[in-house]
Amino acid sequence: MSDKISIDLVRQWLQESKRVAVLTGAGISAESGVPTFRKPDARKPTSYKQASGAQASEDVYLWDKYDPAELASRSGFKKNPELVWQWYDYRRCLVERVEPNAGHIALVQLEKEIAAREGRMTLITQNVDRLHQRAGSENILEVHGNILTFRCFDHGHFASDVERGLKAPPVCDCSSLLRPNVVWFGEALDKDVLDAAMSSAERCRLFLAIGTSALVQPAASLPFIARERGAKLVEVNLEETPLTNSVDVFLKGSAGEILPRLLKSPA
Ligand code: OAD
Repeated sequence: MSDKISIDLVRQWLQESKRVAVLTGAGISAESGVPTFRKPDARKPTSYKQASGAQASEDVYLWDKYDPAELASRSGFKKNPELVWQWYDYRRCLVERVEPNAGHIALVQLEKEIAAREGRMTLITQNVDRLHQRAGSENILEVHGNILTFRCFDHGHFASDVERGLKAPPVCDCSSLLRPNVVWFGEALDKDVLDAAMSSAERCRLFLAIGTSALVQPAASLPFIARERGAKLVEVNLEETPLTNSVDVFLKGSAGEILPRLLKSPA
């Protein structure tokens, strides 16, 4: 199928579907200047150990310089809270500097188009950068939390107003250290958020997976749940992923270029 025919077909499906679930990953924010996590050749969930010597240029892939378990786990935080804090502070400052791109904006428009015919779009995002919110999307499920709010390590007390640029985690009123309000490796996702994501996958007629390597569970299973329930599956990515063989249409390319073309009135 040519690119044009595939785009037209997906646009038509989107216009016909009352319930649409969208799963986004780091790829949708790449065009805003936020580095993705994995190199394109990452094919399987690793033990989260980075091969030594695999250091590409800084800022290109987020896990390049570190073992993810050191930066994104409870044990990593316990071992070196300053390092973990500084890594998240760097990312926080980065995402606050950048702007939502054409891909984020197209999803806002898509949600409106679907709502205008009394349908519902649920945007399930693995991203912790809040760019979907800043673009204006409304029905968002942040399955991995976000890096712009905080909770304390011992009791989960919530905090939002924390200075940027600190070299070490500040202390909560209960004397525990503050940590980013994200889901780390080995931690469970928020049950209500995960239940809502599963339910939207189960009930949708069309599932759109955008800019995710489809390697991290449980988010990676959502498209398969949708497919088992009879939904059409569409993927937008620069490259093939473990999901690609199972989709109805694979739209190869950047989210910022492809998503605006899926709208009823393409920009
Ligand atoms: P990854 O870094 O694993 O994958 C990014 C995907 O986006 C890859 O498949 C790229 O090919 C694709 N991509 C890159 N640029 C793109 C573009 N402009 N348009 C379309 N696709 C593009 O990121 P995720 O799948 O989001 O979890 O990673 C999942 C989770 O792994 C993250 O949420 C994070 C990490 O562990 C936590 O931090 C809890």
